[in-house]
Amino acid sequence: MQFSVTTSTLDKPRAGIRAAGIVHKRKPAAGASALDAVRDGEIAALLKAGEMDGDAGSRLLLPGSGSKGSALLIGLGAKKDFDARAARKAAQALAAALVERPATSAAIAVADFQPRGKDIAWVVHTLVAAIAEAAYRFTPFKGKEKTTPVKLAKIQLCVERKDAEAAKKACTEAAAIATGVNRAKDLGNTPPNVCYPESLADTAREMAKQYKQLKATVLDEKDLEKLGAGAILAVGKGSERPPRLIAMEYSGGKKGDAPVVLVGKGITFDTGGISLKPGAEMDEMKYDMCGAASVFGVIEACCELGLPVNVVGVVTSAENMPDGRATRPGDIVTTLSGQTVEILNTDAEGRLVLADALTWVERYKPKAVIDIATLTGACIIALGHQGAAILGNNERLAKGLLAAGEETGDRGWQLPLWPEYQEQLKSNFADMANIGGRPAGTITAACFLSRYTEDYTWAHVDIAGVAWKSGKEKGATGRPVPMLMRYLLDQA
Ligand code: BES
Ligand code: MN
Ligand code: ZN
Repeated sequence: MQFSVTTSTLDKPRAGIRAAGIVHKRKPAAGASALDAVRDGEIAALLKAGEMDGDAGSRLLLPGSGSKGSALLIGLGAKKDFDARAARKAAQALAAALVERPATSAAIAVADFQPRGKDIAWVVHTLVAAIAEAAYRFTPFKGKEKTTPVKLAKIQLCVERKDAEAAKKACTEAAAIATGVNRAKDLGNTPPNVCYPESLADTAREMAKQYKQLKATVLDEKDLEKLGAGAILAVGKGSERPPRLIAMEYSGGKKGDAPVVLVGKGITFDTGGISLKPGAEMDEMKYDMCGAASVFGVIEACCELGLPVNVVGVVTSAENMPDGRATRPGDIVTTLSGQTVEILNTDAEGRLVLADALTWVERYKPKAVIDIATLTGACIIALGHQGAAILGNNERLAKGLLAAGEETGDRGWQLPLWPEYQEQLKSNFADMANIGGRPAGTITAACFLSRYTEDYTWAHVDIAGVAWKSGKEKGATGRPVPMLMRYLLDQA
């Protein structure tokens, strides 16, 4: 998909389909009025005849003829109700309608979709994200029964001259973010017989070949043993596929500038291990590497954009399987930090692979560390599928992520990390247990991580509820790439 910005009004660009907005009570927005000029008043006539009212969610398609492309009118609802949420919904309705048409090119009157309180850059970001989302398909494993391909390939965003510069900048950013989101979705959707720790390492190596600002380093099981990464190794012990610790160093900022380090949980399949999970929907545990997938997505977006910030993406990857060699409940392991852990439940494996990675990243003297993980089922109980849980040891960082989430609609919600919760991790035999009981499961998981992050500014993003969708729409969402990219853009 190719996105560009133009300062011509909607009647000018050559496009298979032109899209504009209609406000409730049959009022064409500015773009729709301009469009009507080339349609000889047809839109005004149809509105007058009551063919469309402009209610939110409504739409009307006017077929084209000859060189005149078709027109798509999207209902925006009442002006007074047109806030960011309504605009996002309108953008989604627009995107859904565009990708189902046979047209290969489209032009959109951007300002028609601008809600109160938001600038043109926000609208451009929202439109590009919505269209990329609607156009996403995952087909590498489809044999005969092909999904209908999307024909739309070129989108022109029509803006006023005064907005052109901001719109162009936003368009470039949004297109790069969409590439990153798609990468995260692809990795998340890839089946667990094809996506495993070494294959993720290959992805990192390939990306480093493709982008010259990127350097990839892979630690294999022997390296991890020499290092003393006992927690990552313990999780991978039951699998035929050995664990990997992967680092992607993106050098976009000044040399010597402290990097922002992202650490992604990359459990390519989580059976629970000896503490085996129940069978229902276990296939969805292929998404247990979506934290890692979001790290790949962010790194790719940074490379595409040439973001002037240093970012290190670390992926801590293993497959959690039951086996004669697998870790048992009751086993005690020594982590890279030197602290010992009594593994009371082998299904609490995410925090283990993260613990060693969070110790390892101290070497980067990071400005901040953000870990991203499908860490707890409890997070879904607390926040459902609307928001990620955010916790950490630094208010500014947590607030920065929350703000980035609000701005992009890729939301998070902060949970407390009060020291009292730490007591739930007490072990009679080791420095800590890897589980904290039923109450506040998302918080006690973060408490566990906090014991490995004391030396730097840190935030934890639990994406168990937002990284994928179940049911008919089953698939990875690419979240929280938009939140993280917005955060990094705000730092640049
Ligand atoms: N990957 C899971 C968390 C998860 C569960 C994400 C369901 C999305 C949907 C994680 O490794 C896990 O199994 N966590 C346990 C922790 C418990 C044993 C303390 C959980 O949440 O049940
Ligand atoms: Mn688990
Ligand atoms: Zn897991």
